[in-house]
Formats: sequence, C-alpha cells, structure tokens
Amino acid sequence: MKRILSGMQPTYQLHLGNYLGALKNWVDLQNAEPENENLYCVVDMHAITMPYDRDSLAKATREIAAAYIAAGIDPKKSAIFAQSSVGDLHGELMWLLATMTQIGKLNRMTQFKDKAGKNAEKAGLGLYAYPVLMAADILIYNATHVPVGEDQKQHLELARDIAATFNHRYEKEFFTLPEPMIMGAATRVMSLRDGSQKMSKSAESDMSRINLTDTPEMIADKIKRAKTDPNPLPDSVEGLEGRPEAANLITIYAAMNNQTKEQVIAEFAGKQFSEFKPKLSDLTVEKIAPITARMRELLADQTEIDAILKDGAEKARLVAEPILTEVKDIMGFWSLK
Ligand code: TRP
Repeated sequence: MKRILSGMQPTYQLHLGNYLGALKNWVDLQNAEPENENLYCVVDMHAITMPYDRDSLAKATREIAAAYIAAGIDPKKSAIFAQSSVGDLHGELMWLLATMTQIGKLNRMTQFKDKAGKNAEKAGLGLYAYPVLMAADILIYNATHVPVGEDQKQHLELARDIAATFNHRYEKEFFTLPEPMIMGAATRVMSLRDGSQKMSKSAESDMSRINLTDTPEMIADKIKRAKTDPNPLPDSVEGLEGRPEAANLITIYAAMNNQTKEQVIAEFAGKQFSEFKPKLSDLTVEKIAPITARMRELLADQTEIDAILKDGAEKARLVAEPILTEVKDIMGFWSLK
C-alpha cells in the first residue's frame, strides 16, 4: 500500500496543463490502485509566501478543492483538505525539520531564486523556508509517494534529505524517504501560441492556454487559432522533432484520450491541421466540459465543498497527530506519559 500525498497552491487559474500534468494523473492513480491511501491538500500556507489577496484566499482554496473533486478525486477515497486546517501540525513539524535543514541546501533551490528574483535580500523568510514546509507537508503523514511535476523534483530531493538526516541523527528509521512520482513528464503541456513555453496562468495572452473554466466555444476557438506550422502531421514520433507546436497538440490529444503519441500519429499521419484540430477540439470539450460544469455546480453552493474540506481535515489530522507525537518523543521533548 502506498500513502500518496500531493498539493496545489490556491493561486492557480487552473488550466489544461494543471489538469493533464497533475490532476488527471492523481485521479488515474486513485482509481487504478484503490488500496492506496490518498491525501490531497490545497497548500494555502504556501500561497501566502508571495503577495496575495486575503479577500480571495478562501475562495481560491474552495476553487482548487472543487477542481480536485470535479476532476474525479473522490472524497470517499481521498482526504481533500486545506493545509492551514491542519496548519498547527504542519507548522510545528516544519520548525522541528528546520533544525536539520542546511542553509546551503536552501540556497540552491532554483524556485526560490526564480521567485525572489534580483532582490533576494528583500525576500521573506517564508519564501526561503517554503521547501521545509513542503517537506513537513509530506513527512507529517509519512507519505510514501508524492506525485509532482518535474519542477518540484528538487524540493522532493530536499524532503528526502531532511528525512534521512532525521533518521540518521536520531538513529531510528522513522521517516520513509518519500518517492517522487514524476508525472506528466510525457504530458508537459505547452503554450498554444509558442510551443517552446509552458502553458501558464501568467502568460499574457489568454489564447495561449485552455482554462478549466473556459466555455466549449472558447476552447474550440483557442484550438482553432493555436499556432502550427504549414506541414501535414508526420508519420512517426521522430517527425515531431523541431516542430514544437505540432508535438504539443499531439501530446494533448494523446493524454486526453489515454493514448500514446504513436497511436495518435498512426491515426493522423499525413493529415492537415485543418482536419486534426476539430478532432482535438471535440475531444477537449468532451473531456473538459463535464469538469467545468461540476466545478460550477460545486462552487454555486459552498455547503458541500466545505463539508468535504472539514471531513478531509479530520482524516488528515488523525494520520498526522500520532506521527508528530512520536517525532517529538524521539527528539526527546518532555511530555506527560
Ligand atoms: N510546491 C508545490 C508546487 O508548487 C506544492 C506543494 C506544497 C506540494 N506542498 C507539497 C506538492 C507537498 C507535493 C507535496 O507545485
């Protein structure tokens, strides 16, 4: 049995890249291996490490939870919760782990460098310590597997490193070293305007991405106008080399239809984009529209989502509490026995 944990920040305008690169994999995993324990949190305490709007934090948290559920994370099979609702435990473990995290390692984190930019002296301690909180998110549940995107690999390495340091320093194999499951490597979804850039919520042009809230008309329009090249589709995967836009559309089609790129190519070899795009657009609408509809329904009335988040927090707490108690015991803290 695996204990799987992952999370997304409530800062996303969720798009197709988040769905195909993360959410869909979580859902497939949940359904393929029903014996696993799954914990999916909305990492709102990470979201406040960058400037944010306090009036929309709770709303954004509900939105991400709604996306989890709409995409198929089943609250009966998975704990869905806000990190801050178990924040006392995550935060306390983070402090303990901070005492075994070397500054030199934090200094090498590329995400910190990217986010802090030129003025790292002015960056907050929270942004710097972000990876330690992420390690706590994982280790507070002794999670065995963590599905994340390629960009989070370095943070996962650090979490493993911290877990190993704890085990070594306190001479006990207490923490499982969490395995990264690098998902979506094959489904790196790129911008519809520039096949060399990742699909991103921060790209200026809304035409570059398909948002999970787009209407079927918008989806169709964006795909129709997606950048391509003048050649027909190739007859082999190798033929996609040097054609990033074509490769991206094929990747999206394959991921959406649970096919390999080879299978998609076999079907469309030699065809023009004018023939391929409407098929891609129908497929995307077919898969995304029900998710969008369910998200809207969930968000129209907070009651259900709030009940799910509350229940998820209770489940998470039941797992985390004894682990934190044991960590403190191992570390030698006083307690009433
Ligand atoms: N840093 C992750 C991201 O930006 C989000 C995250 C926070 C996370 N804590 C986590 C992911 C724990 C997996 C496990 O994508």
